[in-house]
Amino acid sequence: MRKNIVAGNWKMNNDLSQTKSLISDLLTKVSGTETKVMIAPAFTNLHIACELTKQSPIEVAAQNMHFAENGAYTGEVSASMLKSIGVNTVILGHSERRAQFREDDAILAKKIDAALQNDMTIIFCFGEELEDRNSGNHFAIVKSQLKNALSHLETKDWENIILAYEPVWAIGTGVTATPDQAQEMHYFVRKMIDECVGGHVADNTSVLYGGSVKPDNAKEIFSKSDVDGGLIGGASLNADDFMTIIDAFNRS
Ligand code: 13P
Repeated sequence: MRKNIVAGNWKMNNDLSQTKSLISDLLTKVSGTETKVMIAPAFTNLHIACELTKQSPIEVAAQNMHFAENGAYTGEVSASMLKSIGVNTVILGHSERRAQFREDDAILAKKIDAALQNDMTIIFCFGEELEDRNSGNHFAIVKSQLKNALSHLETKDWENIILAYEPVWAIGTGVTATPDQAQEMHYFVRKMIDECVGGHVADNTSVLYGGSVKPDNAKEIFSKSDVDGGLIGGASLNADDFMTIIDAFNRS
């Protein structure tokens, strides 16, 4: 059965000492949770994050990676480099990467292949812009983002895929999708997986929601049957807020 997951995308926040201090704060609070907890610090802090969380329930993810294995790609980081420091998960397709760094579906498909070849887990982000939603185009946009990046995968590849629906208009805006809007899109995505890949994969793939998830709205969003957790930006930078969101799923 699919897992409940709460992942913190720290984006370009937290230097080395802030990273150490936020992780040590989280470590004092996180034991006993049945929810899978992930954090995605900046590249420079991934190594120390892996060291500090080694014996803990917290998993460390990267926020991006290049599709090539090595070579003349100044400023880039490969899957094998991430693996070599103990990072086994990578966020791909975030709307900030798509919009600000021109990552299109074709590039993302190559990144997904590189991550899979290195046996990494992928948190694949997708979601519509405000004008797509206002024009009623949101299902078509999501369908094409998923098809273009993922339709070439084999069934076994899906064991390494976590999906994250992040409507662009809800990211960092304080305007979250309503729980019903999230559920409607997650149901649509799960049905699409069912039709294209199979019921077993649809049942076992975690679909997270991201976009202005906060301590006071997480419980209601996570209570929806097709919402398996969240990808959290701003609220993951504060240990108490992040823990409250993690605790929105029941604790043991
Ligand atoms: P916020 O939670 O700050 O809206 O960010 C969501 C996000 O982009 C997570 O990847």
